[in-house]
Amino acid sequence: MTPLPKLSVIEVNFDAVVDYDGRLVILVDENGKLETLGGRINKLMKGALDRVLASGDFQSLALGKVLSLPYPVGLKAQGLTIVKLNQNSGVEEASACGVEIAKAIECKDILILCGEFKKSANLVEGLILRNYNYLDQKTNTKSTAFNLQVMVQSVEEHVDKINEKLAVIDGVFFTRDLINAPANVLTTSSFAEQLSALSDLGIKVEVLDEPELMKLGMRTLLCVGQGSDSPSKVVVMHWNGGGKEAPFAFVGKGVVFDTGGISLKPAAGMEDMTMDMGGAGVVAGTMKALALRKAKANVVGVVGLVENMPSGNATRPGDVIKSMKGDTVEVINTDAEGRLVLADILWYTQERFMPSGMIDLATLTGAIIIGLGHEMAGVFSNNDKLSNQFIDAATAEGEGAWRMPLTQAYDKQLKSRIADMKNVGGRAAGSITAGQFLKRFVKDDMPWAHLDIAGVASIAQESAFSPKGATGWGVRALNRMIADNYEGVEDEPGG
Ligand code: BES
Ligand code: ZN
Ligand code: ZN
Repeated sequence: MTPLPKLSVIEVNFDAVVDYDGRLVILVDENGKLETLGGRINKLMKGALDRVLASGDFQSLALGKVLSLPYPVGLKAQGLTIVKLNQNSGVEEASACGVEIAKAIECKDILILCGEFKKSANLVEGLILRNYNYLDQKTNTKSTAFNLQVMVQSVEEHVDKINEKLAVIDGVFFTRDLINAPANVLTTSSFAEQLSALSDLGIKVEVLDEPELMKLGMRTLLCVGQGSDSPSKVVVMHWNGGGKEAPFAFVGKGVVFDTGGISLKPAAGMEDMTMDMGGAGVVAGTMKALALRKAKANVVGVVGLVENMPSGNATRPGDVIKSMKGDTVEVINTDAEGRLVLADILWYTQERFMPSGMIDLATLTGAIIIGLGHEMAGVFSNNDKLSNQFIDAATAEGEGAWRMPLTQAYDKQLKSRIADMKNVGGRAAGSITAGQFLKRFVKDDMPWAHLDIAGVASIAQESAFSPKGATGWGVRALNRMIADNYEGVEDEPGG
C-alpha cells in the first residue's frame, strides 16, 4: 500500500520555521515582495532571500514554477524552495503549483508556509497526488510516509478543506495501487478481500461467489472467467450516507488479467493487461473516498472480478451465451470480454437497486485510444443531464472527458445470424458499438453513462497529476459529481 503523507495543518509560528530541519517551501508573489514571515526568514538568511528574488533567475521564473536552494544559510532546513505564486491564484494554478513542488522535492519532509494563501488545499492536493510512487513490488525501497506540514494564518479556515482533499486522495491512491498491482498479486480473490476490508470505513460489502452468480443467471460474466483457475466474483459495496432516496450506482469492469482468451492477444504489450480491472479500481477508490469524507449520499458500487484466460474449459469463439437479462450473445471474439461482464452486472444493478442513475467504467476498447489518446476518456450516455453532470465535474477536477455518439444507427453492426446479438461490431467505430452493446442491458428510462477509460487508466508517460502507470483517473470527478448533485437530496435524486 502506498501511504499518504502524515499531514498536519499548523498556525503561523516563526520559531517552528527557524528550527525546522526538513524542506521549507515559501510562496512569493511575482513582484518578489516578502510578507512578514518571509521578511524574518530573509533576515536570518542575511538578505540572501532578497537577493534571489531580485535576481534574473527569479524574474525569469514562470508563475507556478519553483526555485530550490540547498542548505540555506541561517536556517536549519535542508533546503528552501521558493514558489512563484500570486496570492490571488485560482484553484487550477494552485494545484499545478503543488505538482511542481512535488517534482522539485520528492518524498522528503516538507513544511509549506502558506500564510494568508487561500488555496492551500489545492496546493496540497497537487503536491500529494504527484508524489505517489508504487513501490510494493520493490525489495529494498519501501514507501514510507513523509511528514507534510502546512502553516496557515487560520487553521480553522483551512483544516476541513485540506482533510476533505486528503480523503479523496486516499481513494485515488487506493485505485492506483489496485491498477498498478500485477495479476499474480491482485487475483479475483485478493481483490475481493481488499474490497471487503472497506467495511472498516462503514461500507457494507457483499461478495457473490460463482454458485451465487450461476443462480442469478450471470452467464455472460461467468463465461469470461471460466478458463481461469481464479474464481469469478461480483462485489457489491453500499455507502448509505444519505436519506431514503434510491442510490446512485457505479459499475466497474474488473478483468484482473485479459489475455484475450481463446482469441489470444499478441505477446507484445500483453503485460499491460494487468490494468484491465481499471474500471473496478476506480469504483473501489471512489467508494473509499465517499466513505472517508462521509458523503451525505447513497451510492452503490458493483464490480465484476474475472480473469480472461485460454484453457480447455474456456469459452470458444462461436459459443452462444444467455445473459442474466435473458438475451443471447454469440461470442465472436473472446477478447471483447469486458462488455460480457458489464452486461450482467449492469442488469443486476438495475434489477436489485433501481438506482437514480448509473455510470459504468471500463477499460473497454483499444479503439478509444485511437480516437481520444491518453488525454480524455470517452463518455457515452443516453441522458444529457447525467452526461453533463459528469463532464462538468471532470472538467472542474482537470480530468479529461469527451462525449461520444451513441445512436441506433450503429446497432446493426451487432446483428448475429444465430443469436440475439454478437459481442463485436467490426473495426469501424469499435468504441461506439461497444457502447451500443452495453445499452442493450440498460433500461430505457435509466439515466446512464458509460466511461471508456482504456486510454486514461494507466499511461506510459507521466500526466499532470500522476507519475507513469496508474493515474486514478475518475475518482476525483465521480466524487465531485456526487458532491455537487447527489448529496443532501433526500427524495429528489439527481439534484
Ligand atoms: N481490455 C481490452 C481493451 C484495452 C485495450 C484496454 C488497450 C486497455 C488498453 C478489451 O477487452 C479488448 O481486448 N477489446 C478489444 C475489442 C475487440 C476484440 C472488438 C479491442 O479493443 O481490441
Ligand atoms: Zn479483451
Ligand atoms: Zn479487456
